[in-house]
Formats: sequence, structure tokens, C-alpha cells
Amino acid sequence: MPRADTSNRCRTALIILLALLSLPLLCAQKAAAAPLTPQEERGRQVYVNGASPSGVPILAYFGKDLLEVPGESATCASCHGYDGLGRTESGVIPSNITWPRIMKSYGHIHPDGLEHGPFTVESLKSYMEDGIYPGGRQGDPSMPVYRIDARDLDDLIAYLKRLDSYLDPGISDSRIRVGTLLPSGGPSAELGEVMRRTIEAYFSDINTRGGIYGRSLTLTTGRPRTTADMSRFLRSMAPEQEVFALVNSFTPAMESELGNLIEEQHLPLIAPFSLFPIEDQLLHRYRFYLYAGLREQILVLARHATNSLPLKNPRIQILYPEREGLAGMLATAEEIFRSKGWKDISRTGYTAAGEIPAAALERLRDGGSDLLLFLGGETEAGTLFKALGDGGCATTLLMPGVPAGKAIYSIPLSCKDKVWLSFPSLPDDRKEWGLSEFRAMAARQQLAVTHPTAQLAAYSAAKILVEGLRRAGRNLSRERLLEALEGIFEFDTGLTPLVSYNKNRRIGALGAHIVGVDPLQAGSNGFFIPRGWIAAQ
Ligand code: HEC
Repeated sequence: MPRADTSNRCRTALIILLALLSLPLLCAQKAAAAPLTPQEERGRQVYVNGASPSGVPILAYFGKDLLEVPGESATCASCHGYDGLGRTESGVIPSNITWPRIMKSYGHIHPDGLEHGPFTVESLKSYMEDGIYPGGRQGDPSMPVYRIDARDLDDLIAYLKRLDSYLDPGISDSRIRVGTLLPSGGPSAELGEVMRRTIEAYFSDINTRGGIYGRSLTLTTGRPRTTADMSRFLRSMAPEQEVFALVNSFTPAMESELGNLIEEQHLPLIAPFSLFPIEDQLLHRYRFYLYAGLREQILVLARHATNSLPLKNPRIQILYPEREGLAGMLATAEEIFRSKGWKDISRTGYTAAGEIPAAALERLRDGGSDLLLFLGGETEAGTLFKALGDGGCATTLLMPGVPAGKAIYSIPLSCKDKVWLSFPSLPDDRKEWGLSEFRAMAARQQLAVTHPTAQLAAYSAAKILVEGLRRAGRNLSRERLLEALEGIFEFDTGLTPLVSYNKNRRIGALGAHIVGVDPLQAGSNGFFIPRGWIAAQ
């Protein structure tokens, strides 16, 4: 690993330099990698995204027939890696293209025996455009040639010069700065603060044991009042505030803006759950969640109904508050119903909180629908349970459990075996070893355990971040962290369902528990009856 090499060499050089009483500044400069200049940053976009900051399209040509593809489909990073070290893929070996390596004064001998003389900046530029090495030999056609604007090529070369020494924002040789976002006030401020203290305690616990590859973890907190505040925090101009990644953001009111900023800033986030559906992975490259969101829970509920409930061609009613994104999430459920041949589906969206349309309630009392998928909150759930009870519970009800809150305890007796709730996680997911690990950490760090559910969620998200950092290794970058997270398969936090990610998966515990209720047992452990985990893929 060249970066480690360099630092070793650096250390040796340092000792010699010290012995000679010279200034060890060279090495100090190397450790504190300067931020990219605007030109280098543009070059990085060419390297990573294959997109042209100058606006002139970049085109790549493959193979002997010069098959044309857009630059976005042939990014340097996709073959040579984000770090430029090159990784062997299906027999082809994209070279290590870090600057000292490309510029070796004696040229290169490639693994396939091809030899060529040393590059200069000029011959490197022409190689990019025609694939001909210094000395006139044609290179291997598995390296595309590019049509690229002269300004973009200059930017790209400026970035290639920085490739081996560039450290992403928020990392230094001794520290990784992680950010977290919390509510600035209001009812959830206290909960946010408890989560922050939990993560801080966990980080401090890791630091006392040497940190991660010698780097300590520090936590920087943002409490944005407005989206402009949040944007300032995430774009944080000052290098001494820049964060490498975010953990456990807890700003529900600003979630969609947060998502956009994260993708724009290429800032990895590991959070317990998302309020919004994760449909297009490409739009969610940097966001990793622990638990399924509403969309996946709706899907799981629909699967449960179609696979396990004794219903024949039910008249289906869907009731939902008209909030951002909710209507869109229902399409998947309808598809699942239709695939079973259940076509009698009616959808009712309602606006004012707590106001389920009278007609819809009437239908439930009359037994006018056999299956109800309900997405409301606590107040509406209360109204609904009453209407169901009044009608003798002729309707089977499917609903995500968390939004219904305490109203669940008012499920009428007649609804036993008729109500099915989904939960992204249950207390049963917590294993004894996971809990004792957490308790031991809390004791060492004198962390008061006051809101266990919130604390364990924040702790589990932080644990996944730490797992990703460990896998990413000493030669850390945001891209390496993403690659490492994408490699996590059935990771056991000890406190949640098993967590897996991959290139197309950003929800670790992708599914939900289906839970029935026994209203007779309200207030006791027997109230919730877990009926198993259903995957949402
Ligand atoms: C589809 C994969 C692929 C893509 C995309 C790609 N390369 Fe390459 N690159 C290669 C391979 C394979 C080689 C080795 C070719 C050979 O042996 O002649 C190579 C060689 C090189 C070399 C010569 C290194 C040497 O040792 O002589 C440079 C420089 C280089 N690539 C830079 C880039 C840059 C910059 C980009 C983006 C604009 C890029 N490559 C995109 C696969 C790729």
C-alpha cells in the first residue's frame, strides 16, 4: 500500500533528518494533506464521475472497433480504483496510476510484457487520447481512449498528481471526524441528546483501546434550525470542521433536504432508518440505513396478507394521510395484491390529521371492506380501532406498528387475529451478548442508560460505521468506506436483525417482523404475538 509505504519511508527519513538536525517539515506536510484546489476538485469529478466540469461531453472508445460510450460509463475510478492503485478484474490489469508510478523515469514493464519509456505530461495526454505509449507502441485496448476537452484533461492531470496524497475531508493521520445531526429544540431534542451521548461514549471507548488503525474517532454535532443551517454544517467551509461521515442523523423534518445534500457532498451517512423510500440506489449511494422504512413495511404487510391470510378475493381499502411520498409507496402493495388476482382495491387519502373521512369509517362499520391497509398515526389509529370494534371487526387490518404508537393498546377485543402489525425490529432481536457488550461499554464510560431503544439504535448505527471503518483499513477514504459497507453481509450487531448491504442495497435489515395482537393480554408480555420475519426483497 503506497500510502503506508510512504509513511514508513517518511518515518525513516524523519529519523535521518532529525539525526542531521534538519527540519522534518516534508513529512509533516505529507501527513496534513491540503484540501483540493478548485482545479484538482474538477479533475476529481472527471476521474470519479467521468463527467466534464467544462460542459463539453467526455467520450470513451473501447477496443479495436472503438465502440463509443459516454464518459460516465467508463470512469477512471471504475477500473483503476478510487485510489488509483488498480485492481485486477476478469484477467485485465488496470495499472497503478498514482503519479510517482506513472512518472517513473525508467518507464514501465506491464505484466503482459509490454514495455514503454517514461511518460511526460504531454505524452500522457496524448496516450489518453490515442492509446499510444511513449516510444510509439499501441497500448492494450482494454484501456479506453478518450475524447476530452483540453481543460478537462488538464484538470484530470492536476488531480492525478494528488491521487496518492489526497485524504478525504475529516481524516488526518491521527483522527477521523464523524458528524451527527440533532434537533435544535422541540420534543425530540432530549432524545437526540441521549443518542449523541451514547455515540460519544462508544467512540471514547474505542479510542481508549487505540482507535481505528491508530486514528481516534471524534464526534462533531450539528443542531440545525433551518435547512440553511444544515447546509452550512454539511458543506462546512472550515477544514477544521469538516466531517468524514455522518452517523445517526435525527432531523426528521429536514430529511429530504438532508438526503440531497449528502449525495451532493459525497458524505457517507449511517442512520437507523429513513422516512423516505429508498427506491433508486443510484440516488442513494451515500446513505446506509439499519432498518426498513415505511415502504418496505407496506410491502411486507401485503406479502403477509397474500401468502398467509385466509382471504379470498377481498374487497381492499387503503387509507393513508396525504403526506410527501406516501401515495407513491402504495403502488408496490397494490402490485402484490393484483399479482394474487385481488383487483377490488380502493384508495382513500385524507388531509387533516385525525380526520378519517366519515364514509371510510362507515364502510368499516358496515363490513364494506374485507381488508384494510392503514398508514395513519396514533390519533387516527385510535379513531379507526373504535370504528372497527363498533362493526364487530369484520375487516382484517394491516398496519405499520410504529406510527400507531400507544393506540395499539386500544385494539378492540373482537379484533383478535384480525390485526397485523409490522415492526422493523423487535426486542427479541437483541441478543444477550449484544446487550451485555453495550452495558459494559456504558459502565466503562459512565453512560446513563435512560432511553434504551433510542440509545441502542444510535449505538447500532455507530457500530456499523465502525465495522465499515475497520474493513476499509488504514488507507481510508470515503469511497473505501462505501466499498467496505457494501461488503457487509449478515453482520450481527447483537442488537438488531442481521445486517447486509451490497451495491444495490442500502437497508441493512431489509424486511420486517409481522406481529399479531391478543387484546385480552393488554399490558402483559403476551399482548404482542410475533409471527415471523418477512424479507422485503
Ligand atoms: C475499462 C477499464 C479502464 C478505464 C475506464 C480506464 N482505464 Fe486506464 N488502463 C486500463 C488498463 C487495462 C490499462 C493497462 C493497459 C496496458 O497494459 O496497455 C490502463 C492503463 C492506463 C495508464 C497507463 C499506465 C502505465 O502503466 O503505463 C494510464 C495513465 C491510465 N490507464 C489512466 C486512465 C485514466 C486517467 C482513466 C480515466 C480517464 C482511465 N485510465 C480509464 C483500464 C482502464
